[in-house]
Amino acid sequence: MPTAMQAARRAARSIATSEAFAADVLEGLAAKPKRLPPKYFYDLAGSALFERITQLPEYYPTRCEIALLRAQAPAIASLFPQGCVLIEFGAGSSKKARILLGAAATVEAYVPVDISGDFLQGDLTQLRRDFPRLVVQPVIADFTRPFELPPQIAALPRVGFFPGSTIGNFEPHEAAEFLRHAGAVLGADAVLVIGVDLVKDAAILCPAYNDAEGVTAKFNLNVLARINRELDANFDLGAFEHHACYNRDKNRIEMYLASTKRQKVKVNGKAFSFRAGETIHTENSYKYTIESFQALARGTGWAPLKAWTDGLFGVLTFRRDGE
Ligand code: AVI
Repeated sequence: MPTAMQAARRAARSIATSEAFAADVLEGLAAKPKRLPPKYFYDLAGSALFERITQLPEYYPTRCEIALLRAQAPAIASLFPQGCVLIEFGAGSSKKARILLGAAATVEAYVPVDISGDFLQGDLTQLRRDFPRLVVQPVIADFTRPFELPPQIAALPRVGFFPGSTIGNFEPHEAAEFLRHAGAVLGADAVLVIGVDLVKDAAILCPAYNDAEGVTAKFNLNVLARINRELDANFDLGAFEHHACYNRDKNRIEMYLASTKRQKVKVNGKAFSFRAGETIHTENSYKYTIESFQALARGTGWAPLKAWTDGLFGVLTFRRDGE
């Protein structure tokens, strides 16, 4: 049960979040070409659709990463300092952290950081049961911005964990900014474990974002349904189509919503016109080579340690250069 203060903070955060959503949507739809930030995919319905994506036969990243973590957990855990805290950035569930925790008796505390206050609740109760000696201290915060760590764990050596290739949804300069920020949060001599989707044949990449069942299309279109629900808009979901293609020059999957006809849409009282075929750019998903990602990280103060790959996905580790 949240205290009155927690409930008030949550309400204030929710107002600020919906104001930012409205501002980003209005700005993105006024831009040329039109765009929407991918972080808004993940409302309740969008998160459930993403969960379904991770189970699709065409969407290999989640399966590959979990298999790599399972196979390499003891080797990864051997890099962790004694008595450390595992800090997970953007933890929607503790499923992947559990794999590391099961292999790393040396981890004293687990701190999942996520913007959603309701995240993980049941999941963390079970985690506390399964790891009774582990201190579990969730932090509700935007993990891409400075946040306070719980005082109980502040003195422990730190290991950062950023799975899922979520970093691929950042522009490369944002990925570098995030790595610098993670360095500031984790401090000198920290270890970072990060999941990165790798550059590969378009014949594997394209189906992963154009699945036969159409779940990715629903996930993409759901952002319009969310705008309708939360921003008093009237997008006709039947008049937009999901498009995803691989841009080889930029090593990224690009996702769009294309208007199937000339139309006008109102959002929060503002009208936006669409030509037939006009697109909204909704997501980039960058793919790296192990070397290109290590070079990016090196430039932000992270020295590469070991990397593991199955050829499709990479789990990479780094140590913070001494400061
Ligand atoms: C969360 N993120 C790493 C996914 C990706 O593969 O870029 C999001 C996604 N978009 C479409 N399918 C999955």
